[in-house]
Amino acid sequence: MGFYDDRVLPHLINAVMNTKTTRAIRRRVCADLSGDVVEIGFGTGHNLPYLPATVTRLHAVEPSGLGVKLARERIAATTVPIEVIGLDGQRLPLPDASMDAALCTWTLCTIPDPVVAVREVLRVLKPGGVLHFVEHGAAPDAKVRRWQDRLNGMQQRLAGGCNLNRRIDAIVRDGGLRVEQLENFYAEGEPKPFGYLYEGRAVSD
Ligand SMILES: C[S@@+](CC[C@H](N)C(=O)[O-])C[C@H]1O[C@@H](n2cnc3c(N)ncnc32)[C@H](O)[C@@H]1O
Repeated sequence: MGFYDDRVLPHLINAVMNTKTTRAIRRRVCADLSGDVVEIGFGTGHNLPYLPATVTRLHAVEPSGLGVKLARERIAATTVPIEVIGLDGQRLPLPDASMDAALCTWTLCTIPDPVVAVREVLRVLKPGGVLHFVEHGAAPDAKVRRWQDRLNGMQQRLAGGCNLNRRIDAIVRDGGLRVEQLENFYAEGEPKPFGYLYEGRAVSD
């Protein structure tokens, strides 16, 4: 990673991922989490204020050291114990069937092989464990989709490898989880190519 990805991008992510729209979505996505939870792509800890008290420990995975540093006030403000356990969602340093739930928000767009990351989630979830997710990805409208394809290279360079055009539902299914809830919609206030969302829950059977 270079200076921009290391030192600048985490500050940008910290700012742009904290809007009225994202906060409302985070509240819904984090609802009902409980027990040991692994979060893939912890970022700057924007989900922490929405973790229910039923979460006994959050096992955070995040490659950006600066991102984790920027989370320190949110870490200090939560009563949930937080442990940063690793750097890469594609290789979780956790035993098989050890987690009650998993959390992933706006991250499967960026992980180089997101199907591998979902397979890792499947491996570490207990049977019946649930992945709570919200991700942006490929839109159904042809015109928006063309813009997503056009802008994808620029987005990858400016946003740390983020892709605009991934089919998130297919990725979750290909990783072996059963999608039991899915809402698709354009996020309010975001340009359509960047804001087509997949919000849902997927179960390890
Ligand atoms: C757009 S940010 C979202 C951050 C956070 N999840 C949120 O909701 O605000 C994407 C995050 O994915 C992280 N990331 C990139 N590659 C990753 C990987 N291989 N494993 C886990 N996280 C990764 C980035 O460092 C960044 O924090």
